[in-house]
Amino acid sequence: MVVLLAGGAGYIGSHTAVELINAGHEVVIVDDYSNSCPESIKRVEEITGKSIASYEADVKDKAALRKIFAENDIDCVIHFAGLKAVGESTRLPAKYYRNNIDTTLSLIECMKEAGVTKIVFSSSATVYGDQKPPYVETMPKGECSNPYGWTKSMMEQILTDCAKADPELTVVLLRYFNPIGAHSSGKIGEDPQGIPNNLMPYVSQVAAGVREQLTIFGGDYPTPDGTCRRDYIHVVDLALGHIKAVEKILKDNICDAYNLGTGKGYSVLELVNTFSKVNNVDVNYKIVERRPGDIDACYADTSYALKELNFKTTKTIEEMCKDAYNFILKNK
Ligand code: UD1
Repeated sequence: MVVLLAGGAGYIGSHTAVELINAGHEVVIVDDYSNSCPESIKRVEEITGKSIASYEADVKDKAALRKIFAENDIDCVIHFAGLKAVGESTRLPAKYYRNNIDTTLSLIECMKEAGVTKIVFSSSATVYGDQKPPYVETMPKGECSNPYGWTKSMMEQILTDCAKADPELTVVLLRYFNPIGAHSSGKIGEDPQGIPNNLMPYVSQVAAGVREQLTIFGGDYPTPDGTCRRDYIHVVDLALGHIKAVEKILKDNICDAYNLGTGKGYSVLELVNTFSKVNNVDVNYKIVERRPGDIDACYADTSYALKELNFKTTKTIEEMCKDAYNFILKNK
């Protein structure tokens, strides 16, 4: 299959590109490099030994998309393109709604014009809101605590409505839990611009001496050690989940959502301690007040993804920590 990766130069897109190529598919990438760089595509080419067609364009730009669909025989789209900084979305909500929703609408409209009927969407566990974990796909979606989360929830709704209206349109919504880690080569990984918002890049930067101290948000949650629990999933496992989604979309005309997580919750302190231990490095931290909008625990029920996609993670929290540290040491 020829798969168009919208936002394919980013953290999850680049790992998915590697696994798609490894599985024998061809990839085309469109990215505006607003939160990534062309170097990551070069690195994917180094890892796989294959050259990749890539376009620098804003995915909202329909003229650019039309050209890409005209020049390539695309079978399926994976839509990763979007702004994802939770805190920034609270300060600049209109920017998030404009960007994320418009991007999705442009893609879906240009797919329709080009006769492309299959789309896999990067959604998030954030669409469940604050409910009692484990999160199951049959749960109603919840109240999101920030505009970023609402854009994910709305984009799911838009795609679901489009699929209802167009019996040919096949939609897979992948609800990611917390992707961390990096490719074992250390060539691609999570490389946030500026101060990291997410836990693992922050931990890695403190361990590597780029930053002084990690602040752990909240030590008084109703969890065994008082810090929040999350379902961390190795980004390579997550990428492999996209291969399963593409295989599913090839044979079934569906519109459905699947969790991509491990089903296990680790606390912030457990993650930090595991990182220190497996990498034999100190991570200086202090516990401060809670971060607004954080929930105490979030982890997946993985049974539906196993049953429907035959998706199961294999990588451990230790591997996630080792690969994240290897990436930062090689790319400081
Ligand atoms: C958030 C979003 C999620 C999004 C993900 C990736 C929500 C509710 N969650 O997940 O949708 O897909 O980011 O962008 O919108 N932590 C610290 N110190 C730090 C950073 C984080 O203690 O410097 C803690 C947080 O309080 C949290 C855990 O680490 O308990 C994980 O945080 P983070 O990596 O930011 O991910 P989420 O907030 O779970």
